[in-house]
Amino acid sequence: MSADELFTAAKAAMSHAYVPYSGFPVGAAIRTPEGAVHAGCNIENASYPEGWCAETTALGHMIMAGGSKVSEIAVVAENMPRIMPCGGCRQRLAEFVTADAKLHLCDMNGVLETVSFVSVFPRGFTLEHEK
Ligand code: THU
Repeated sequence: MSADELFTAAKAAMSHAYVPYSGFPVGAAIRTPEGAVHAGCNIENASYPEGWCAETTALGHMIMAGGSKVSEIAVVAENMPRIMPCGGCRQRLAEFVTADAKLHLCDMNGVLETVSFVSVFPRGFTLEHEK
């Protein structure tokens, strides 16, 4: 599956976004090293802080499907070209990414730029450092 196909999965997921409060739909798709793709949308809540991001939904799907590693991520938001995962989602993704994981930054037409995940989340918190 190409980066464009991962983008398509993210865009399809975005159509499920539940965003009555922000009106800001987001879709994310992640690929495991085995080639499985898991997608998600953001899901908001009347108690605003209880909502969560598209990347987090995608990670939940991956874990429930038995996946354990993320080698590629695509994120898309119809109201923001080149949306970046928020800080909280970078931390959540960091738990599962491979050392060479890629992040695809998109607009509504496809991938605009591909960067390494580590370049957007260097020196993240990990308990491995305590050893
Ligand atoms: N959002 C995401 O889904 N992913 C991000 O990386 C950034 C923000 C969502 C959360 C909220 O539903 C909406 O975008 C506006 O912040």
